[in-house]
Amino acid sequence: MSSHRETSDIFSLFVKATLLVSAVGSISLLFYSVFSNESQLISCLEYCDRVLLFDPRKFNKSNNISGDSYQETNISHILFGIGGNSKTWNQRRHYCELWWKPEITRGYVWLDEKPPETEPWPNTSPPYKVSEDTSRFKYSCRQCYRSSLRIARIVKESFELGLDNVRWFVMGDDDTVFFVENLVMVLAKYDHNQMYYIGGNSESVEQNVLHSYSMAYGGGGFAISYPLAKELVRVLDGCINRYSWFYGSDERIQACLSEIGIPLTKELGFHQVDIRGNPYGLLAAHPLAPLVSFHHLDYVKSIFPGMNQIDSLQKLNEPYRLDPGRTLQHSVCYDFNRNWSVSVSWGYTIQLYPSLVTAMQLAMALRTFQTWRTGNNEPFTLNTRPMSHDPCERPVVYFLDRAERVGRIQTLTTYKRHVDEGNASCGRSDYASVQAFLFVNVTSSILNPEIFKMAPRRQCCEIFNSDKEVVQVKIRGCNQFESVTPP
Ligand SMILES: *[C@@H]1O[C@H](CO)[C@@H](O)[C@H](O)[C@H]1NC(C)=O
Ligand SMILES: *[C@@H]1O[C@H](CO)[C@@H](O)[C@H](O)[C@H]1NC(C)=O
Ligand SMILES: *[C@@H]1O[C@H](CO)[C@@H](O)[C@H](O)[C@H]1NC(C)=O
Ligand SMILES: *[C@@H]1O[C@H](CO)[C@@H](O)[C@H](O)[C@H]1NC(C)=O
Ligand SMILES: *[C@@H]1O[C@H](CO)[C@@H](O)[C@H](O)[C@H]1NC(C)=O
Ligand SMILES: *[C@@H]1O[C@H](CO)[C@@H](O)[C@H](O)[C@H]1NC(C)=O
Repeated sequence: MSSHRETSDIFSLFVKATLLVSAVGSISLLFYSVFSNESQLISCLEYCDRVLLFDPRKFNKSNNISGDSYQETNISHILFGIGGNSKTWNQRRHYCELWWKPEITRGYVWLDEKPPETEPWPNTSPPYKVSEDTSRFKYSCRQCYRSSLRIARIVKESFELGLDNVRWFVMGDDDTVFFVENLVMVLAKYDHNQMYYIGGNSESVEQNVLHSYSMAYGGGGFAISYPLAKELVRVLDGCINRYSWFYGSDERIQACLSEIGIPLTKELGFHQVDIRGNPYGLLAAHPLAPLVSFHHLDYVKSIFPGMNQIDSLQKLNEPYRLDPGRTLQHSVCYDFNRNWSVSVSWGYTIQLYPSLVTAMQLAMALRTFQTWRTGNNEPFTLNTRPMSHDPCERPVVYFLDRAERVGRIQTLTTYKRHVDEGNASCGRSDYASVQAFLFVNVTSSILNPEIFKMAPRRQCCEIFNSDKEVVQVKIRGCNQFESVTPP
């Protein structure tokens, strides 16, 4: 056990950061105050914003960006533009209201027409604007929705509002769920004074082949920096006419950006969720990047069994509130005393195997889902492995039960064994010895968002002194020369 040698956990990072910074200025007081007041850590918005204030550039006067004194990007710098429809908003708004924070997030839902006056506009929804008429534009896509013209123009209409201090225009659908703190964390890595187009692809190869590998899928959401938006709005209406046969609004945007010469910067936390079936495998093997968005959640099974999708997202929000950056982050480790492998997707699920499965295998998504358009078993733009029908080749699965903060910088998440009714469990004694454990408890330190600006490395974990019912796992930064290597 080497739990006291946590080379890259949050505390040592902060000690280093504080030392570095106090050499430049007297900002160490700020760090002290971040951690001296417990209640400040509960609110992750505050946590993220304050931690994100640490940027060496800010304290380096000879290196100030674009002349002004540099301020780290925060939530107020993002203007959201959500594509909505006045007739369906009432059914769709629940996804948006999960992440929208009145008075904190800025932006609008753009509607096709004024909503009926009979009901007041909900104050939990973003305020709405009615899009300009688009009937003057050419449109020649058969069996498509003309509304894609209107949605493509949201970025232009948002820009033309001329609001102050906007660094990023973030577009999403009415069924996009954003993880706002993580979105800020991701965008803060980039210089908003340059021209950036940031988002993600589809998970289904067939979709990328049909639409494009070079575009940010609109439902997963994408971000356009201010200087890029400024160039885009000049040419967008012309593009809309020129690409009149295109299917989606996102394709029109990408076609236009390609004329400006700006490629997509892919960020792995944007999820279009172009899959059918059970998204479990996808979420249980998330890449090493903050979770930024989900889309299409009405088209897949609930992410937690036995709950509807909205309740599932609220459940995932419990650990997310405690440690946004760590949510769904993957760690794998072995217990050589019992020849077990454990695969953690923090805040969501644990898989236990009574055998030593390679790290490479564990990083592949279990194929619990099918492709979006044709419902096939493959291909995807991520590595997958089959979910065996033989229960003796499947992991024993646990789902998040509860999440709490322990002390100032630690969390404890508890996962409960899932019984897949109707599917026999494996009768072998090695499986029975795993199944005897009803819970897995995972402890970890709150992840410093700065970690996502460094060279990526999966965090390490260890399994230790389990009591009768509970397997205990500790996640921590890896030590030098540490690897998940079978004997
Ligand atoms: C400040 O920026 C300059 C120019 O980029 C660099 O040479 C110098 O090392 C930086 N100083 C610190 C303390 O980071
Ligand atoms: C940043 O640089 C500009 C000139 O490039 C200078 O006018 C300004 O005062 C600098 N800001 C700070 C905070 O040093
Ligand atoms: C965000 O940054 C701006 C500077 O651009 C600052 O005025 C504002 O107070 C910051 N907001 C938060 C919530 O930290
Ligand atoms: C673990 O596996 C190794 C071979 O991979 C074997 O030699 C050892 O006996 C096993 N230990 C247990 C406790 O099953
Ligand atoms: C596991 O976590 C639960 C809280 O969810 C706690 O009550 C229990 O004592 C923990 N068990 C162990 C062995 O740490
Ligand atoms: C049992 O597992 C198989 C393979 O994943 C799945 O197709 C089937 O639906 C499961 N049965 C039940 C009742 O859940």
